[in-house]
Amino acid sequence: MAVTCVIGVQWGDEGKGKVVDLLARRSDFVVRFQGGGNAGHTVVVGREKYVLHLIPSGVLHPGVRCVIGNGVVVDPAQFFQEIADLRARGIAIDGGNLHVSERAHLVLPYHKLQDRLAESSRSREKLGTTGRGIGPCYMDKAARVGLRVADLLNPPRFADRLRANVEEKNKLFTAVYGGEALDAAAVLAEYEGHRERMRPFVCDTARLLQEASEAGKELLLEGAQGTLLDVDFGTYPFVTSSHSDAGGVAAGCGLPARRVDRVVGVLKAYTTRVGSGPCPTELKDAQGVDLREKGEEYGATTGRPRRCGWFDLVACRYSVRLNDVDVLAVTKLDVLDHLETLRVAVAYEVRGERTDHFPADVDALEEARPVYRDFAGWRRPIGGIRRRVDLPAAARAYLDFLEESLETPIQLVSVGSERDQTIVEGLPWISGSSGA
Ligand code: GDP
Ligand code: IMO
Ligand code: MG
Repeated sequence: MAVTCVIGVQWGDEGKGKVVDLLARRSDFVVRFQGGGNAGHTVVVGREKYVLHLIPSGVLHPGVRCVIGNGVVVDPAQFFQEIADLRARGIAIDGGNLHVSERAHLVLPYHKLQDRLAESSRSREKLGTTGRGIGPCYMDKAARVGLRVADLLNPPRFADRLRANVEEKNKLFTAVYGGEALDAAAVLAEYEGHRERMRPFVCDTARLLQEASEAGKELLLEGAQGTLLDVDFGTYPFVTSSHSDAGGVAAGCGLPARRVDRVVGVLKAYTTRVGSGPCPTELKDAQGVDLREKGEEYGATTGRPRRCGWFDLVACRYSVRLNDVDVLAVTKLDVLDHLETLRVAVAYEVRGERTDHFPADVDALEEARPVYRDFAGWRRPIGGIRRRVDLPAAARAYLDFLEESLETPIQLVSVGSERDQTIVEGLPWISGSSGA
């Protein structure tokens, strides 16, 4: 029994939802430890497609307990909407299989408004946020004026702090942004309406997880976003506001860092990014459009077209090392089926110098020109293949190269969005779908 952490290696949307759903089959708990409703994790089961934002991607498995850890920022309206949508599709959810940390911060209407106003007032360096209030909510958490789930359950305290916060925010909205003030009474009434509905889900999730781990339960920690969007190690300032790498686990769910037994890094067979910021291998031509269309690369949360490009080994090496990834899961290999040639950036040229270093200076990264190595394509559909050995030689050569270059074994290859379109080799605890 072990604690497994699933992390996105690139800029998000690597297919974490699919991988978590597969691994969840053998898990007792699936835990989100950072991010919030900015995430969009897709799980396809037959003809059914589920897009999860706040609720962990283990929820489709009866018997799995899902946990929203203290590091997550929770928008109650979105939380209940997601529960209602899942219930309407026959998924059972109640306080027995979904737990929310009493220490999780609440996203409030002023966070969403601030997110939008800040974004529209930036003349340069717009971040292209998801508009879910994520940045402002984490700002308030760090500024020690945030409201937590525990506060919601404490009516006098909540009313008092909420009124004070709305008053402060209104100064910003009116005096700085020249916008409208929010009505504190209306916000309060809305959140008071959430209180009793929230109560059955709330507990000390850190203790729950510590005890589960001590009792030998199988725990799966589900990262949201990706390492290159991490607030410290990502392409700052074009990042999200939480720790979306494996370093976020202990602070985000209360399991001691030493308890994590293995890290699964999920990466796409090519690169995508949604929102602003550097992306050295982005293809701004017809090739990029082709990848977007073949990969159906549109944001699962905002529907925005994702920027697409070739696989970036410099960026992925940086991420794999940072997370100490044990096992790689490569997704969307099938999207490359039709290509005659595919390319991998093996180094960057930055200001005339060749380097394999992923620069912290966002301008240097913006200027980085990828140095490519070309690979032959396989030019036949692979979506029906279930063993690595049966893949076309060119596809195997591509995977072998990634595996060797990242010095990490690839134990899962995804060749389609459905659960069974997966080649699993070496991940014994999810046997069943691979035929391997
Ligand atoms: P996440 O945020 O990391 O969970 O990823 P998203 O759900 O935002 O984006 C991944 C998209 O790719 C979803 O639409 C998945 O259904 C889809 N997907 C996942 N794996 C594969 C795959 O191997 N092949 C194809 N064609 N689509 C996949
Ligand atoms: P999943 O979990 C891809 C991006 C936004 C924007 C930046 C900051 O589905 O992989 P934010 O709203 O977080 O303040 O936006 O981060 N972003 C994501 N990109 N996948 C995600 O989540 C993302 N969550 C945030 O597009 O560039
Ligand atoms: Mg996503």
